[in-house]
Amino acid sequence: MDLVESVKIRALAYGDLDAIVEIDKAILGKERPEYWSMKIELSENRSPMASLVAELNGKVVGFIMGDASGWEYGVPDTVGWIDIVGVHPQYQRKGIARILFKEMVANLKKVGVDTIYTLVTWKEFDRLYFFDKMGFQKGDMLQLELKV
Ligand SMILES: CC(C)(COP(=O)(O)OP(=O)(O)OC[C@H]1O[C@@H](n2cnc3c(N)ncnc32)[C@H](O)[C@@H]1OP(=O)(O)O)[C@@H](O)C(=O)NCCC(=O)NCCS
Repeated sequence: MDLVESVKIRALAYGDLDAIVEIDKAILGKERPEYWSMKIELSENRSPMASLVAELNGKVVGFIMGDASGWEYGVPDTVGWIDIVGVHPQYQRKGIARILFKEMVANLKKVGVDTIYTLVTWKEFDRLYFFDKMGFQKGDMLQLELKV
């Protein structure tokens, strides 16, 4: 059986905190348990099945977090967001993020979403390549910022 067939996708739960902190640390090089604890808690109040994990032999190796818009930023509720997608570096380029993304989109479509937004820092080349491969185009929103 190839790796993709062994991957199990399920809803993200608070118990995945340690695994997500570990993946983030493997990617970023630093541990952010408080940040992820807050983010997972918030995700539990959001669209069910928009935040998922990928398990391989019982170990969480990747995750995706998102939501359906509730008209935030004037964005209609037919828009879904991807906040973050991450796969442990040891398991990258094996199709895991693709499966997480497809499953999340299928779930969001069931609640009426027909467009997905995401923000990527332009130097995050892995994510840019990934989203390009998933069919994303540059959108109409403008990111504004002000140093204070
Ligand atoms: C972006 C990310 C979520 C992709 O996860 P993934 O499971 O590796 O992605 P997939 O294997 O499903 O990739 C699907 C397609 O996206 C594209 N893609 C994904 N990562 C890519 C990369 N680094 N470079 C170029 N294309 C990439 C490819 O076309 C790929 O298909 P292919 O492998 O058949 O060519 C993952 O790389 C990630 O978490 N990156 C965060 C930053 C990071 O880890 N950097 C490395 C520091 S150690």
